[in-house]
Amino acid sequence: MSISLNTKLLIKGGKVVNDDQSFYADVYVEDGIIKQVGNNLTVPNDVHIIDATGKLVMPGGIDTHTHMQYPCMGTIAVDDFYTGTRAALAGGTTMIIDFVLDKKGVSLLEAYHKWRSWADPQVCCDYSLHVVITWWSDQVKEEMSSLVADHGVNSFKMFMAYKDRLMLEDDELYQAYVHIRKTGALAQMHAENGAVIYYEQKRMHDLGILGPEGHELCRGPDVESEAVTRCIMIANIVNCPVYIVHCMTIPSADAISRARREGKVVFGEPISASFTNDTERCWHKCWRHAAGHIVGPPNRYDHGVTPEHLIKLLANGDLECTGSDNTSHNGAEKAAGKDDFSKIPNGVNGVEDRMSVFWEKGVASGWMDENRFVAVTSTNAAKVFNLYPRKGIIAVGSDADIVIWDPEATRTISAKTHHQAVDFNIFEGMVCHGVTVCTISRGKVVYQNGKFNVTPGHGKFIPRKPFAPYVYNRVLKRETSRKPIPVQREPYDATKALYICRLVCKH
Ligand code: URP
Ligand code: ZN
Ligand code: ZN
Repeated sequence: MSISLNTKLLIKGGKVVNDDQSFYADVYVEDGIIKQVGNNLTVPNDVHIIDATGKLVMPGGIDTHTHMQYPCMGTIAVDDFYTGTRAALAGGTTMIIDFVLDKKGVSLLEAYHKWRSWADPQVCCDYSLHVVITWWSDQVKEEMSSLVADHGVNSFKMFMAYKDRLMLEDDELYQAYVHIRKTGALAQMHAENGAVIYYEQKRMHDLGILGPEGHELCRGPDVESEAVTRCIMIANIVNCPVYIVHCMTIPSADAISRARREGKVVFGEPISASFTNDTERCWHKCWRHAAGHIVGPPNRYDHGVTPEHLIKLLANGDLECTGSDNTSHNGAEKAAGKDDFSKIPNGVNGVEDRMSVFWEKGVASGWMDENRFVAVTSTNAAKVFNLYPRKGIIAVGSDADIVIWDPEATRTISAKTHHQAVDFNIFEGMVCHGVTVCTISRGKVVYQNGKFNVTPGHGKFIPRKPFAPYVYNRVLKRETSRKPIPVQREPYDATKALYICRLVCKH
């Protein structure tokens, strides 16, 4: 079937899957918007019909965590806003949220406009931007306010790792959280203890460990979970909602679960990289292969124990959204660290494969149903980042960002056949159930049966407002219900103090 250029589409005979229910219905799309959902719809004659019999009709995926063309450790991530978002469409993802991440001292507004100038003409799907705070000053504070008020940003990422380069100290985090809470944004944390990693890297070098395994050896699971616990503690004290990006270990995921049980407003994001079937990863004998798996925090070499734990927590609601952390570097770029693991540009692929990987590990493995899959790959992201119900649901009035999904078909992931620019795939050889049959972005069929029909700039920047109800309803209520109040006392009077004390305290 050729790809339709029609702006009127009728998706017929499929099962609509939202986060709360599944039902058989046709979906009529016009001018980029879902206009009707139901049976026996009245539609114009010139409509293009897509047969979805036997398929699932789901909200397009939202990848909460990408770094397209990210300038990192002297190189630039090879998947740019064009190749990265095009590949996303092939995998059923119709929106990415990327990170503005510039050097310490660079104006946040300047950096934001730089990223917009890279992305706007290139993106093939809709996108939005988180902004990373790598330094702290009054200027940063003012620019954060402006980003929230005038530039559609409602999330700020901070690093507790990469000492001297990106890392913020606790006192800076405290101040940033106070300001983020005031602006109604969300604090996102790269939670690893940067000081420990810094000294452990030196220790590994002294031990003569210079290969990629050194990356994991200086980042034991506690290095991550300590930082997770610490940032949640600080954020909670100032009533700032916090979102832990790339949650990679059992203790970190458990720290998030515990905090949620304690009533703290915290969200956790596992990434597709945790679910590679490759048991050797950065311990592989082949240097290129090992370096290809370097991501911070590292994915864990424990024969499936960590992935299974993460997927269960994602299924039961303790973890919230899924990203890919797509930061893809070719072998030639990774080779910057051939003699020293600490110089290997960090990052892995995932923007194309995230949906299939989570379907395989979540739904096909029996840990979650199709509705929870939609929640964790799309709807929850829309709610947390204040895009809902524009995104994340098949409903009248929502954007027509839709994936038609074959739950029974399988595909084998490989760098030889993927659509990303990068020359390596951490999921190489993985057989996944769940295949994108057709992707609709902004009401247009942009990918169908392995063929693209999309041009750079088809996607648009989607601004996001602060005070997302899903995040802030509880936060705002607490502001008043749990506000500390001073005890009312008579002024201290040295001549009467003892008398009053005996009277009041009755001793
Ligand atoms: O290794 C990673 N994750 N690279 C991208 C930057 C980040 O920390 O998210
Ligand atoms: Zn990070
Ligand atoms: Zn990242």
